Amino acid sequence: MSHKLVKRSIYTLILFCFTSLSVNAETEFKNEQETVETTSTLAAIDVDIDENSFSCIRDMTPVRHFYVDNLLGDIESTLAVANAPEDAVYPVGSVVQLVPTEVMVKRKSGTFPATGDWEFFELVVNEDGSKINKRGFVDVVNRFGGNCFTCHAPAREKWDFICESGRGCDPIPIDHKMTGALQRSDPRCGAAEPQDGDWMALFKLKSMVNIGLTKKWFEDKF
Ligand code: HEC
Repeated sequence: MSHKLVKRSIYTLILFCFTSLSVNAETEFKNEQETVETTSTLAAIDVDIDENSFSCIRDMTPVRHFYVDNLLGDIESTLAVANAPEDAVYPVGSVVQLVPTEVMVKRKSGTFPATGDWEFFELVVNEDGSKINKRGFVDVVNRFGGNCFTCHAPAREKWDFICESGRGCDPIPIDHKMTGALQRSDPRCGAAEPQDGDWMALFKLKSMVNIGLTKKWFEDKF
């Protein structure tokens, strides 16, 4: 082989190596992108929850008389389950609220099998935002002295712990008139949007339990 030919072969070899390296890198990048987009990857992610995870209840999506959201952005999957007749399990990141101060958040699968991976929260809310008063899986007790998990457990099999009505959960002492009034006056939302009868409903509620609303708050809002 002539000296020139050897030199050309070496160049060709180097060129070939570089080309195949860059092709490999490109395929790896594409694979990575595809993985990020699959829902199975979302299921493997857990949600970081702090007081900034919660804000105005009316900014969530209404379903019948309660609200849902998804902290990982997958609101479509959460809504699909909320609207399914039965036997559907909420996806990780789902948030469910009936009143501003009580929240259920679906954690990553396997986090706490006994509660179906739901974490229960009791918040303190005011004009400045939310504070987490209590959080946990089986031992959170609400302002009425009831245990979230124990009350919600009868709805476990068919409705993934979501009680609504007629699903066997112990009843709560407040009706939808009251829960609606609380939603429309969530102090984190700014001005209240009261409907007829809300003042009376909140007044009744206030006599039953400390819902964190002062006399001044009532006077300012109504
Ligand atoms: C005395 C039993 C009881 C206790 C205690 C209780 N719940 Fe509930 N919860 C219910 C019932 C019943 C409903 C459905 C009420 C309705 O829609 O009329 C409900 C509704 C809800 C909803 C709306 C979705 C659904 O299941 O219908 C959320 C979210 C919720 N509760 C969270 C909590 C959290 C968090 C706690 C504890 C801090 C808690 N609950 C404590 C019985 C209870």
